[in-house]
Amino acid sequence: MTRQGGKIRVACVVGTRPEAIKMAPLTLALRRDPAFEARLLASGQHADMLIQALAHFGVEPDANLSVMRERQTLDHITVAVLEGVGDWLDANPQDLLLVHGDTTTALAAALAGFYRKTPVGHVEAGLRSHDMSRPFPEEANRALTDRLASFHFAPTPLAAENLQAEGIGGKGVFVTGNTVIDALFWTLARADKSERLEEGAPLVLLTAHRRESWGKPLEEICAAVRDLLERHVGLHFLIPLHKNPQVRDTITKALGGRPRVAFTEPLDYPDFVAAMNRSVFIMSDSGGVQEEASALKKPLLILREVSERPEALDLGTGVLVGANRGRIEREANRLLEDAAYRGSFAERTCPFGDGNATARIVAIIKNHFTEV
Ligand code: UD1
Ligand code: UDP
Repeated sequence: MTRQGGKIRVACVVGTRPEAIKMAPLTLALRRDPAFEARLLASGQHADMLIQALAHFGVEPDANLSVMRERQTLDHITVAVLEGVGDWLDANPQDLLLVHGDTTTALAAALAGFYRKTPVGHVEAGLRSHDMSRPFPEEANRALTDRLASFHFAPTPLAAENLQAEGIGGKGVFVTGNTVIDALFWTLARADKSERLEEGAPLVLLTAHRRESWGKPLEEICAAVRDLLERHVGLHFLIPLHKNPQVRDTITKALGGRPRVAFTEPLDYPDFVAAMNRSVFIMSDSGGVQEEASALKKPLLILREVSERPEALDLGTGVLVGANRGRIEREANRLLEDAAYRGSFAERTCPFGDGNATARIVAIIKNHFTEV
């Protein structure tokens, strides 16, 4: 495509905490580059957690649709983001709309772009668990977003292969690495000693929020935590609670009042990075944490039945344990009791990127819009 002079108008859309973290380096780079007129459009699917994550990078949205409601439904997010992004695009036409990952914000924003024939770029394209119910609804969100997009920034070769296998993308597929590694390195480079947690008692960091974990699976995970606390006297758990009230209710009911369990509000990103570094191992059903733990060479028990990031399993930087009490305990005990096994994670290779994904994406976009 050829542009007739002027700046390349690019809007990055973010809705939730992980999108904020993973799109911040790209927004900063686009804003710095005089070839672009870069905007950041927040859907506000998450309110406080989104702004908290952006603030760490010193990035403010140019506009915020503030769609979040208490205990919101997927229908509400979809409709509000589709209409909100659509209206915003009508008032602020763009050469390219960048969306990220697998959220309902990403899908609805991509659809708004598609309806206006505004080219859409999908950052973190091509991830697949090949199970539409896990993670739900994110597997559908990312596959549908890939269908609508013209540019696919795949973090790994496997993600690019997934797209080719579905006949998506053709020449619009680029392997770039994941921008979360850029965000992580950016943060580590700026971390001062006060942001590093003191050495001390053995600590396990736990986060969980996925819809398919709500209810019984989350109770199983908490039961495993209780068993581990009993077996390992001196072991502590740090649990930054997701803002979602469904998640909070279950976890605080199951583990509230237990000694050696500390709940916190969502941590600022540098504090969360420090907590990952400080822990003996991490337990999480998060997507981003799978990539970060791998880059930090920190053992991770993945609280999911399947992962759309199988590279971590192939290279052994994460172990899939589901929400199965027995499996969680077996793997956790091994990590706590076998120092050689625990130490072997330091030797494992991170498949998710080298910290230069942002630069690659910016160069690809610039090249496309300025080529003659
Ligand atoms: C969403 C994304 C998921 C992403 C996750 C990251 C979808 C379908 N899911 O799930 O892909 O991994 O975010 O965290 O897009 N809340 C607050 N304040 C906040 C954020 C949430 O109070 O800052 C509460 C609200 O009551 C809100 C609820 O949490 O209604 C649920 O948020 P929602 O975006 O629907 O779902 P997540 O589970 O966060
Ligand atoms: N994170 C954070 N503070 C917290 C918990 C997580 O900054 O208290 C970061 C974490 O490092 C990762 C991202 O939030 O980059 C993951 O978000 P989440 O688990 O909500 O979503 P997912 O990655 O599963 O989409």
